[in-house]
Amino acid sequence: MTAADADPWRPNYERRALILWVVVAVVAAVTAGLWGLPTGAFHWLAWLALAMALTWVRGAVRIASQHEWLRGHSLGCIAPEDFAARLPSWSGDLWLGWGFDWLPIHTQRALDLMRAGPELFAPRDPQRMGATWLHGLGGRDQDLRIPLSHTDGHMLIVGVTGAGKTRTFDLLVTQAVLRGEAVLIIDPKGDRDLRDTAQRACVLAGTPERFVHFHPAFPAESVRIDPLHSFNRATELASRVAALIPSETGNDPFKSFGQMALSNVVQGLLAVEERPSLVSLRHYLEGGAEALVERALRRHFAAYRPDWETEAATLLARARDATARVKALVRYYRERVSSDHPSTVLEGLLGLYEREQVHFSKMVASLMPILSMLTSGDLEGLLSPAAGEAADPRRLTNLADVIDADEVLYVGLDSLSDTMVGSAIGSILIADLAAVAGDRYNHQGRPRPVNVFIDESAEVVNDPFIQLLNKGRGAGLRLVIAAQTFADFAARTGSEAKARQVLGNINNLVALRVLDAETQEYVAESLPKTRVVSIMRSHGSTTDASNPVLYTGNTGERVVEEEVELFSPAWLGQLPNFEYIAKLSGGRIVKGRLPILGALRGAAEAAVTMPATGPGGDPRPTALLAVPPERSAGPLGPSAASASTADDGAAEPDAPDAATLPNQMEHAMGKRYLNAALKRSQREALTQVEIDWPDSRGLLERLALGLWAGYPTDEARYARLQTIAVAAINSHKAAKKAGVPDRERFAAFFEALMGALAASEHAVLAQVMTADQRRILGRRLRAVLPSTGRDLASVTGSQDA
Ligand SMILES: Nc1ncnc2c1ncn2[C@@H]1O[C@H](COP(=O)(O)OP(=O)(O)OP(=O)(O)O)[C@@H](O)[C@H]1O
Ligand SMILES: [Mg+2]
Repeated sequence: MTAADADPWRPNYERRALILWVVVAVVAAVTAGLWGLPTGAFHWLAWLALAMALTWVRGAVRIASQHEWLRGHSLGCIAPEDFAARLPSWSGDLWLGWGFDWLPIHTQRALDLMRAGPELFAPRDPQRMGATWLHGLGGRDQDLRIPLSHTDGHMLIVGVTGAGKTRTFDLLVTQAVLRGEAVLIIDPKGDRDLRDTAQRACVLAGTPERFVHFHPAFPAESVRIDPLHSFNRATELASRVAALIPSETGNDPFKSFGQMALSNVVQGLLAVEERPSLVSLRHYLEGGAEALVERALRRHFAAYRPDWETEAATLLARARDATARVKALVRYYRERVSSDHPSTVLEGLLGLYEREQVHFSKMVASLMPILSMLTSGDLEGLLSPAAGEAADPRRLTNLADVIDADEVLYVGLDSLSDTMVGSAIGSILIADLAAVAGDRYNHQGRPRPVNVFIDESAEVVNDPFIQLLNKGRGAGLRLVIAAQTFADFAARTGSEAKARQVLGNINNLVALRVLDAETQEYVAESLPKTRVVSIMRSHGSTTDASNPVLYTGNTGERVVEEEVELFSPAWLGQLPNFEYIAKLSGGRIVKGRLPILGALRGAAEAAVTMPATGPGGDPRPTALLAVPPERSAGPLGPSAASASTADDGAAEPDAPDAATLPNQMEHAMGKRYLNAALKRSQREALTQVEIDWPDSRGLLERLALGLWAGYPTDEARYARLQTIAVAAINSHKAAKKAGVPDRERFAAFFEALMGALAASEHAVLAQVMTADQRRILGRRLRAVLPSTGRDLASVTGSQDA
């Protein structure tokens, strides 16, 4: 490693030397012969200076390009056709964008740069938020590739909303489709771009017919799927459906009973050779199992007592209606058949049938709502293929067939009346997939790979999902799952320990921007620690009171080594969209960035194709302060926008906490967002709050920035920000009117903020508060922020250090 590589952010001394030598050369050349002196010496000096200048060119260019790197990259995009063309050159590897191996030296550089002031390298591209300099520390990008065999250990992609999880899926799905393998995409959000990507990839692969689309919101275009198609045991189907019962505790008697009832019905159906479907299960649980009992009994008698009809004739003759007839058949079974030919299936079914009706309906009550949701309206035909089979022109398929034919199935689960239904369909399909996997594991020698992509995976976690992660590998399943936070998993699985156990099975972890402390910690924990060195300086002086003339002084410098996280959790919160840190199979740690597959949209496109240039020639500040197109109507140009901020008389915010708060350039951005979001009267009201409590505006500005990435469009951001700010301002106003003491007024402001924010956003608020604000709120802060207590401790801790 060269000296220049060691601190890529240092000033470009080489360029200064270069300029100086060029100036010398020019001066020497121009002044030659001016004063009648011999020109030879001047020319000689000019040439020498030029030669010296040349020796600095290489170093100056290198440092300049390193600075350029630290300012970040524009969002890359890559045409799907070009992407497809490049695939063969990756020779069986999985491509994960561009980047470099993150080594301890990069941690050292990052910490050094943080001390030097990362604001020196604010991103050039206004669309790029966050610490773009982190990626610049690598100095050079290369294709990041991992052997496909490593992905057998599955992959988890985490990131806040908008960080780029689904766009990462675009890249991975396309590669899987182009490899000709089976692909299954479960998308609880129903991202249209992801669907189009999968379909386009099939076209690019020359096999458009492989694309299969299941989407309950578009029943006419959707295929029909039988989610109960594959099973190895009857009880498996029962637990697949019972898993949908919302249960408060792991040991819920209603759930166990529901599962038992289902199991009896499933076995009864199998006994009469009828394929169970959601509709038939609902039918027998809701209307009673009478008809099924009759069919099962008749079949059993026919198999074991050929002359049963004559034997039972007198009993049956007395029966007036269907119920009496079934009762007669049951009696016949009990008295004449069961001793010689007992059947556990029949016993189970009879147990269900003979239970008191009221008690029975109570026990299956928790199962019925979800079962009826899955079997009413369009879903009936889509998920229970027996219904209207012959007349239905839509294709009927199942996961086993999709996988055998190497097809690409996209399952979109959004726009359903109830998110519970989407989540239920996802869960039940995953359970079916687990059964398919079990089958492949048992019966196929070395199964062909199957790629399973599950977006928003926390929505569909269930026991079969955990089995898939455990056993999928042997069955050739490669799971790629995306999630927003670790807490989502903990909530769905019931405990943090269980969530850890689930995720512990995943060998590849790709972390995009992560804001909540728990997930940051989870990621940081997965990465190793490293040691960095820093220089500690000390100086002191002493004088002697009895003899003031005696004066001693000392200075010292010590190199200290300390253990730190290889990638600090705070940096995770600052990653720009589409940038990630990943821990891959085998312990390799990479820092990567991903392109968008396809064309860039809207503002991002403008930023890349037309680099913004301000009047002063420096594109940066103007670009950062530029009012977005939809807000720039009227005479307020970019510079006016910043000027109006100053006119508002807003005090500059306190010095931010270095590790967590955005840099100065980004502050300007937060200011602009807040100004754009608020109406004039609201801005004036905020000024009143600001007079009462300095930096309340600053807090909102930083919050605006922190929340920025969480919303898809500027419209959404402004609207949300306005709601939050107005709630806080009004609450302060009310507190002031009520004449409460001043700390209470700030507390009212803060509590209204908390109330208006979603629980997942509380961590952002905790991060953007200054030390003073935390002190003012004191214990109250801990009381209202229990979930982010640890996060808070870490923020305060980092300050104290
Ligand atoms: N073609 C495009 N051009 C420019 N920006 C884009 C394009 N497609 C998506 N984006 C932006 O990229 C960001 C990431 O999108 P993506 O859908 O991958 O987020 P995500 O992490 O899946 O979020 P969520 O959890 O909300 O689904 C979004 O902010 C989106 O606005
Ligand atoms: Mg998404």
